[in-house]
Amino acid sequence: MGQTLTEKILDDHLVEGELETGEEIGIEIDQVLTQDTTGTMVWLQFEALDMDEVQTELAAQYCDHQTYQFDFKNTDDHRFLRSAAGTYGAYFSRPGNGICHQVHKENFAAPGKTLLGSDSHTPTPGGLGELAIGAGGLDIAVAMGGGEYYVEVPEIVNVRLEGELPEWATAKDVALEMLRRLSVKGGVGKIFEYTGPGAESLTIPERTTITNLGTELGATSSIFPTDEKTKDWLSRIGREDEYVELQPDEDAEYDDEIVLDLSDLEPLIAKPSMPDNVVPVSEAEGEEVEQVILGSCTNGAYEDILPGAKMLEGREIAKHTEMIVAPGSKQASEMLAREGWTAEMMAAGVNFSEATCGACIGIGHVPASDSVSLRTFNRNFEGRSGIEDDSVYLCSPEVATAAAIKGEIVDPRDLADELGDLEAPGLEMGDSYSPGMGQNDSDIISPDEAIDDELIKGPNIGDVPLKDPLGSEIEGEALLKMEDNITTDHIIPATSDILKFRSNVPKLSEFTLSRVDDTFAERAKQADGGVLVAGENYGQGSSREHAALCPMYLGIEAVLAQSFARIHKANLFNFGLVPLTIDEDTYAKIEQGDDVEIVDDVAEGIKSGKEEFTIRVNDEWEATAQLDASERERDILSSGGKLTWTKQRAEGG
Ligand code: F3S
Repeated sequence: MGQTLTEKILDDHLVEGELETGEEIGIEIDQVLTQDTTGTMVWLQFEALDMDEVQTELAAQYCDHQTYQFDFKNTDDHRFLRSAAGTYGAYFSRPGNGICHQVHKENFAAPGKTLLGSDSHTPTPGGLGELAIGAGGLDIAVAMGGGEYYVEVPEIVNVRLEGELPEWATAKDVALEMLRRLSVKGGVGKIFEYTGPGAESLTIPERTTITNLGTELGATSSIFPTDEKTKDWLSRIGREDEYVELQPDEDAEYDDEIVLDLSDLEPLIAKPSMPDNVVPVSEAEGEEVEQVILGSCTNGAYEDILPGAKMLEGREIAKHTEMIVAPGSKQASEMLAREGWTAEMMAAGVNFSEATCGACIGIGHVPASDSVSLRTFNRNFEGRSGIEDDSVYLCSPEVATAAAIKGEIVDPRDLADELGDLEAPGLEMGDSYSPGMGQNDSDIISPDEAIDDELIKGPNIGDVPLKDPLGSEIEGEALLKMEDNITTDHIIPATSDILKFRSNVPKLSEFTLSRVDDTFAERAKQADGGVLVAGENYGQGSSREHAALCPMYLGIEAVLAQSFARIHKANLFNFGLVPLTIDEDTYAKIEQGDDVEIVDDVAEGIKSGKEEFTIRVNDEWEATAQLDASERERDILSSGGKLTWTKQRAEGG
């Protein structure tokens, strides 16, 4: 039987296990990336593992989430990251050089390689045929030390793209259509492999927009085959020798197939406050817009900003609307400046931000209260923009720019009719690539150019807390009962006043779940143990391992949820918290404040492979909770977390 593209790459990197859907396998990792909010903990864990040097082909440390150096804590973190990259042999991308996914794509992503990154949008270079997976920081630290990465073989879904995009429909609309059809849970446990003539018609930046947004489906990854367009893109950035032809076999068998005809697409928009709340733009028309932001890791490439620039040529944005361009990389900014597009956009009324995540996580450009903000980003979770009950819409650069011109949400086709002289800015091959991009990136310090050979820690950089090995009893109060789709932003918000404590777990943990209940951290500390209860898809969103680490620090021992997001579940194992699945009735019956006891001997049950545990609530009623865990994950739980487990294995314990 033939193989899918994903199977070919997995097979090439297989270290342990069988390539069968649902089976846990260990794979070799070629490249790792980490960013500044997750990176400090990655390197502290790498140090705690007594590692001397990066063992993967390549490791890259980016500084993108928290680049504004409001106080010494961020600056200290950046210096620590530079010192860690230098000490251990990783590339270091300086603050302001751009967002990890864009800069990695430009400089390092390569077809056929495996990439593990401590950021949930790591799958972005799947558009170049790299198998890229997001994971928790501890998984990155272990992979960097030469350890394999364990993952359940996902279902592999063929997304067959037919036809070609019509005018004004874009790659963003392909991704939004996938979200409209499948929802934010529709990709859990899956890898989407895009094939067909429609896939061939898309440029590399268009493909990477789609693979970036695959994360919002909950997918493990998304990937495109490579072809002449991949080769051409790599050669234009001076990396043609990294091209490898990769195609699924003709008789490859997929677990499922989705057919999407690109020619049926129209401009779409995700309404507040979930990326899958997608409607045609025409249905949201007329809504007044106060802010438009074009950029981020989703649509921050030079080729994403150029359409906006072309639409604005010789025009002005509406007086009551502000438009900000947040490029994905400094090289994209540089290209736009060299070609005169920056001046063109500025003349239209646009402001430029440095190449940073910034506004995507509420750091800068927070919308005004009771106002609409249109963004070309990938997430519009409530409050993520930095203001509670915000009203953030997600759309393509074309729709965002049309709104900036009109001052309200408008289908760009209608705006084109109204203005008479607005043309769809579709890019020709010739101008959609950037010769020179990715070369001579002076803001990247290679391991050979390292300026530090020891770690430099400021006063806000603490140690990695460890958990005791699992005991036989888990009993405590249900300290918080939460609804469906609780995101890692709810658990540990990523705003600047909180993120600056990312290297200081005792302080950071004071903010745990504060967006759900601001008394939680205090109550958890006083209770000295307890459990969390949640609905479906608990831990959706980012790879932020602090969302498991901080509850662990506060003494939480188990999370009872109807279902878990993939990366967060792995993070719970990594920090020794037991993720138990409960059914809808149990979820409905259990109340915050109830006393929850796991009746069975937990340590023994976990060791012996027990899958069903009995929980007793208030000594009044009982229910069943499931533990879906591999043997390795059970060992990790027993040891009190992956750090201790990895050290024990290294010591032969
Ligand atoms: Fe950064 Fe937002 Fe992407 S935080 S990595 S721009 S999803």
